Amino acid sequence: MKFTLRLVSAIWLSVMLVIGAFAYLQIRDERERLVGDLQRRAMLVSEGLSDAIEAAAAKQSPQAIERIVKKFGQSQRGIVVYDRFATQRFATPDIAPFLPPSLPEVTDAISRNTATQGFRVVGDRTRYIYATPLTADDQPVGAIAVLQDASYLERAEWDRWSYNAVRFLVLALVISVIIALVVKFSITRPMAEISSWTRALRSGRPVPPPRNVVDANMFGPLALEVSRLARSMQRAQAAAEQEAALRLAGESIWTEERLKQFVQMQLNGRLLVVVSNREPVSHVWRGGQIHAQAPASGLVTAMDPVMRACGGVWVAHASGDADRETADGRGRLGVPVDDPRYTLRRVWLSKEEEQGYYSGFSNEGLWPLCHIVHTRPVFRPDDWSYYLEVNQKFADTVLDQIKDAESPLVLIQDYHFAPLSALIKAERPDARVAIFWHIPWPNFEAFGICPWQRELLLGMLGADLIGFHTQYYCNNFLETVDRALEARIDWERFSVTRGEHTTYVKPFPISVAPEFVDDPPRVSRTELLRRLGIQAEFLGVGVERIDYTKGLPERIRALRFFFETYPEYRERLVFVQLAAPSRGMIDRYQEIQREVEDRVREINQAFQTKTWRPILYLKAHHEHRDIWAYYRHADFCMVTSLHDGMNLVAKEFVSVRDDEDGTLILSRFAGASHELRDALIVNPYDLAGMAEAVRAALEMPPEERRARMIRMRHSVVDHNIYRWAGLLLSELARIPVETTGAKAS
Ligand code: G6P
Repeated sequence: MKFTLRLVSAIWLSVMLVIGAFAYLQIRDERERLVGDLQRRAMLVSEGLSDAIEAAAAKQSPQAIERIVKKFGQSQRGIVVYDRFATQRFATPDIAPFLPPSLPEVTDAISRNTATQGFRVVGDRTRYIYATPLTADDQPVGAIAVLQDASYLERAEWDRWSYNAVRFLVLALVISVIIALVVKFSITRPMAEISSWTRALRSGRPVPPPRNVVDANMFGPLALEVSRLARSMQRAQAAAEQEAALRLAGESIWTEERLKQFVQMQLNGRLLVVVSNREPVSHVWRGGQIHAQAPASGLVTAMDPVMRACGGVWVAHASGDADRETADGRGRLGVPVDDPRYTLRRVWLSKEEEQGYYSGFSNEGLWPLCHIVHTRPVFRPDDWSYYLEVNQKFADTVLDQIKDAESPLVLIQDYHFAPLSALIKAERPDARVAIFWHIPWPNFEAFGICPWQRELLLGMLGADLIGFHTQYYCNNFLETVDRALEARIDWERFSVTRGEHTTYVKPFPISVAPEFVDDPPRVSRTELLRRLGIQAEFLGVGVERIDYTKGLPERIRALRFFFETYPEYRERLVFVQLAAPSRGMIDRYQEIQREVEDRVREINQAFQTKTWRPILYLKAHHEHRDIWAYYRHADFCMVTSLHDGMNLVAKEFVSVRDDEDGTLILSRFAGASHELRDALIVNPYDLAGMAEAVRAALEMPPEERRARMIRMRHSVVDHNIYRWAGLLLSELARIPVETTGAKAS
């Protein structure tokens, strides 16, 4: 209120000064004009009469003078004739009673023999006096004074001032009302919302920030800072509560906070750099505006919470068409965009580089090589050259990023970067480098068909630590090294030594954060079905990139088999498939997209009725937040990969089910099946087995469903992504620093 008062008073004062100044100038001009007018008229009368009076005086005819005075004098304009001693001789009768014995203007006019003028109150009003000397032989013999009524000048002035005062009052009133409204809607109300929001946060309730405040242009940076501060407070509070609860329970579950503390201790100020092909956020142009988009990638799902906890730099390929516009000159930006917790450093690739390194060697070569799904790998020498070239480009970026850092930790992600560890270690032996392989490692015979297997292995063995999801993949890797290279393998410590350098090979089963998304949208099942425009007693869900390793056609065939075998579920069960288009430049991916669409069309055509379709196929990129409702309300989730390193969809589904309900149908060929043993484990090639699993999921007694889900939730909460990162980083940090051959940096 005080602020509004101050603002209104300041504006009132300014308006008053401006209007006052203008009114003063206007009145002054007006007065000058009116006085000029009076003067002209008085002068005309006075000078016009003085000749006639002089002539009458010369003739010694007082009667003639008196006639003149009476004839030209009026109530508004008195005429008075004086003798040489300034004694009044003749005067207009209306004014005569009010005349003072002498008028200074008259005395002056006679003594100085010149016309004089002035204002004077005569009788009851102000008059303008114009006195002209009467002369004979150029000597003053008297004077004639014209007294014009000037009281209307004051009235006009007063009218002007009153008009401007009313103008000022109306203007001030209108401005005050407008200011009060603007202050209320742009300042008071948003501030009140911010304070009630922060109050709510203080009380520990996880309340989302008021949207219109955070977006308010006026408070832009302030509102953003407040919301960041509040969010950090909320996070800190949640972490503290979680820690306290865990302490009470005597458990030692990994949390974001614990990882943060742990990393601070382990890293002791050292820089953490993560490298991956896929960036955690890409910026794209849509409808003339830039949108931030999180990719559909298990790797990103896993690494983003870790980086949020640990901070550091994430180096990744810039894949969005608006990436340049949203980064600084060196390709850097803070992530998350609205509350930066780490730095993303983008690396730009040419079309040819992207084609050769990403689509070609990584995804047409290594991807099918490591996933045993009967899609033949393609190895082109050109692709291999681009793969090496891009690895060198990433190495240069990482080296630039760590040039001033002492013993940094570099965490390389995935099959796009097999040569990178060796490239970095060659320049910076003091850096601790790990590579985590997110996809399966096949047996040595399968891997051996790669013409560059030796170079790939040597590149990877540049690392201090190599991580896989399972011990089985570690064993496959060690065996591959054993067959392909000269190296000492220690099967007890799971390490490979070549010359002076030792690489440890360990399993680190990757996972998800226990909370799928901060502040989930909490859409109800009814609302979800309404949005989808469907009615269903049972809901099944699948969430995938459209990839031939995911077993999508097999799943749809199994569902068809299910509806054939159990027709009583027709018009009761809807299976919603969220399918994100992926790697569309590659023929095999275009083929699998067509195949999946054909299968969906076939099953829908075979069974659909007027009000029901068995499969709702939603082919689009779905944001993480939007997937929550599908996981949360599905009766079952199907993960039917033909081969999968881990598969985080399975773990995401479990992590969302805080209602301890829902069934997971999980392929035995996904790494996750080793941990989530309470899922209904299936062989995706066995249609009848999968159809049976769907029936079992729908008919499972609620107590069993709950018991299974509770056990799976324990497993995911215990073995979460923070634990994964904590174990990986502590393992890496434990490795002694090598100094031999260290280059001066
Ligand atoms: C797998 C790989 C990741 C990759 C993701 C999505 O999870 O292990 O490295 O990011 O698929 O594939 P994309 O080619 O779109 O990055």
